[in-house]
Amino acid sequence: MDFLTLTKERYSVRAYDGRLPEQAKIDYVMECVRMAPSAVNRQPWHFYIVKNTEVLNALQQCYNREWFKSAPMCVVASKLTDQQWVRSDGKPHGDIDVAIAVEHLCLAAAEQGLATCWVCNFDVELCRKAINLPANEEPVVLIPIGYAAASPAEKKRK
Ligand SMILES: Cc1cc2nc3c(=O)[nH]c(=O)nc-3n(C[C@H](O)[C@H](O)[C@H](O)COP(=O)(O)O)c2cc1C
Repeated sequence: MDFLTLTKERYSVRAYDGRLPEQAKIDYVMECVRMAPSAVNRQPWHFYIVKNTEVLNALQQCYNREWFKSAPMCVVASKLTDQQWVRSDGKPHGDIDVAIAVEHLCLAAAEQGLATCWVCNFDVELCRKAINLPANEEPVVLIPIGYAAASPAEKKRK
């Protein structure tokens, strides 16, 4: 698949059919995440792969939408606030680094026929508790992953 086709293939999926992605596909996707560039190569992130039902239920409370509960697994992209590169004018770059790595994840998943959606509108404190994050980490994005329940309606892109 050429890159333009891949970028058109990825879209925000908000209905999953419940099938758990194969481990080999998850491994592939996470290897693509690992290759993402970051400022001064700090890689100031942890990616938590959540499949455990109890933890998944707790995560679902962080973003209370019915569609979110249909995802069979979820990745939490967390920023290591004490390891991110900070420019001389004080601008921290961890969010930029995490965003690049998350989009690697979403595009790699799309290439593997998997569905994802960026979710940033979640309750950060609940998420911290759900996965027991240490104080130096901040959850930035939740990424539900699975198989789309249906083909997308024709997309209208800006
Ligand atoms: C930084 C960021 C945050 C987002 N947060 C949410 C979110 O909390 N909930 C949601 O349903 N979609 C969220 N999205 C998905 C966008 O709504 C979606 O990417 C956009 O509407 C374009 O649609 P597409 O992804 O299908 O191309 C987010 C996307 C980005 C890049």
